[in-house]
Amino acid sequence: MPNTILVGAQWGDEGKGKIIDFLTDEADVVVRSQGGNNAGHTIVIEGEKYVLHLIPSGILRKSKTCVIGNGVVLDPVSLVGEIQGLQERGVKVGKNLLISDSAHLVLPYHRILDGLRESQKGGKKIGTTKRGIGPAYADKAFRTGLRTGDLLKPDLFAEKLTKRIKENNAVIKELGEKPLSPKEVVDESLAAGQILAPFITNTVVFLHEVLAAKNSNMLFEGAQGTFLDIDHGTYPYVTSSNTTSGGACTGSGVPPNRIDHVMGVLKAYTTRVGEGPFPTEDSDLSKRFHAMGREFGATTGRARRCGWFDAVSTKYSVMINGIDQLAITNLDGLDEAEWIKVCVGYRIGSKKLDFPPTDSEELALCKPVYIDMPGWRKSTENAREFSDLPQKARNYVKKIAGLVGANLSIVSIGPGREQTIRL
Ligand code: GDP
Ligand code: IMO
Ligand code: MG
Repeated sequence: MPNTILVGAQWGDEGKGKIIDFLTDEADVVVRSQGGNNAGHTIVIEGEKYVLHLIPSGILRKSKTCVIGNGVVLDPVSLVGEIQGLQERGVKVGKNLLISDSAHLVLPYHRILDGLRESQKGGKKIGTTKRGIGPAYADKAFRTGLRTGDLLKPDLFAEKLTKRIKENNAVIKELGEKPLSPKEVVDESLAAGQILAPFITNTVVFLHEVLAAKNSNMLFEGAQGTFLDIDHGTYPYVTSSNTTSGGACTGSGVPPNRIDHVMGVLKAYTTRVGEGPFPTEDSDLSKRFHAMGREFGATTGRARRCGWFDAVSTKYSVMINGIDQLAITNLDGLDEAEWIKVCVGYRIGSKKLDFPPTDSEELALCKPVYIDMPGWRKSTENAREFSDLPQKARNYVKKIAGLVGANLSIVSIGPGREQTIRL
C-alpha cells in the first residue's frame, strides 16, 4: 500500500477508525496530523470495542508504528490516560508510538475557556466537544502556545505555564469561573510530561527516514471531517484545524509530492454532531437509527443528527481533498429501508445550486433535491465479497460513487474488522 491520506468526507464519525485499523494491515506507519481528543475513533475486533481519541487507530496492530504529528493538539493528562487504558487491556504502547516535539498542548485553561465561550454564545453555540481544541489552536496561532517539547525542560516549562495560567485566570475570573491553581496545573502537567517524555521526538525526521526507504507505506489518519474544516467547512460551525487532505502534509512534515492516494471515508447516509446547517437532515431517519441504538457520539455520547446521503456536498469533498478512493461505511444501516433518498442537488427558491454555498446561513436555506432508490430489505452484515451483497445494495453504492466521481474501494457492513469488503 503506498502513502495514503484518509479523510472523513462528511461531518466526521464516518468510520475512519475502523477503516484505518483495516488498512493498517498493509501499512508500516500510521500518522495523526490534526485535531485532538475531540476525535473518537471506534474499532471492534472480535467483539472487543476500543475508542481512540489521540492515539492513531493503527496501535491495535502490534508491529506497526504510530505517530502523533506536529499538527495535533494534545492534552497530556488525557493522553497518559489513553495510553494506560490501552496498556491495561494488553495493547502494546511503547516504542511503537512517537509523539512530535512540536505538537501544541491542550491545557486546563483551554478546556475551561472552551466551555465558557460556548455558554456565552447561548443559542449561537457551536456545540463543541469542550475538549479545549479551539482555544489551544487559537494560542498556537497567537504564538502563546506551549508544545510537547517544552515538557522536556521542566523548569522552563513551569515558568512559562505559570505565566500563561495567570494570564488566563484573569479572563476566567472575568467570565465568572473559579481561577486555576498554577501549582496544581504545573504539577499534573509535569507528571504527565514525565510519562510522555520517552515518546517525544522530532517525528519529521523519523517520517523522512521511512520515506527514504523504498516502498514506504504510510497511512494518514484524518480526524473530524471535510465540512468541519476551518477553511472549507460550514464556518463558524467547524473545528479549528484543517481536516481536509492538505492538513496531513502540514501536520506531519510529509510533502505533497510523497502522497500517492487520498481515500475518502463516508457513511452510506449522513450524520452530524453539534450545531450548524445540514441540508439532508431527517428527523424520522434520526429516530429510526437511535431506536436501533446507532449513531451516538464516541467522544461525548451525544445523539448524532442523521440524514440522507448528500451527493452535492460529498462531490465537493471529493474535489477539495483529491479523493480517488472511497470507503463507504454503515451500508447495513439502510438494510431495512424500503426507499432510500439521495440528494443530487440543492435549491434555494427557484435557484438550483450544483455546489454547496460557502456561507452557512445560505446553506441553511438550501432544500435538497432527491432521487429515490429502492431498498434491498435484507441483512448485509454477513457479506464478505462484493458479490455477496444484494443487487440493489450494489447498485446503491455504485450510484453514490458515480455521483461523487471517485472509485469505490471499500464497503463496510458492520463495525467489526471482518465486516469489510475490499473491491
Ligand atoms: P470515526 O470518528 O470516523 O472513526 O467514526 P466513529 O467511530 O466516531 O463512529 C463510527 C461508528 O460506526 C462507530 O460506532 C463504528 O463502530 C461504527 N461503524 C463503522 N463502520 C460501520 C459499519 O459499516 N456498520 C456499522 N453498523 N457500524 C459501523
Ligand atoms: P471524529 O474524528 C464529529 C464537532 C463538534 C462541533 C465542532 C467543533 O471522531 O470524526 P471542537 O470540539 O472540535 O471545537 O468542536 O466539531 N466535532 C466532531 N464531530 N466527529 C469528530 O471527530 C468531531 N470532532 C469535533 O461536535 O460541532
Ligand atoms: Mg468519531
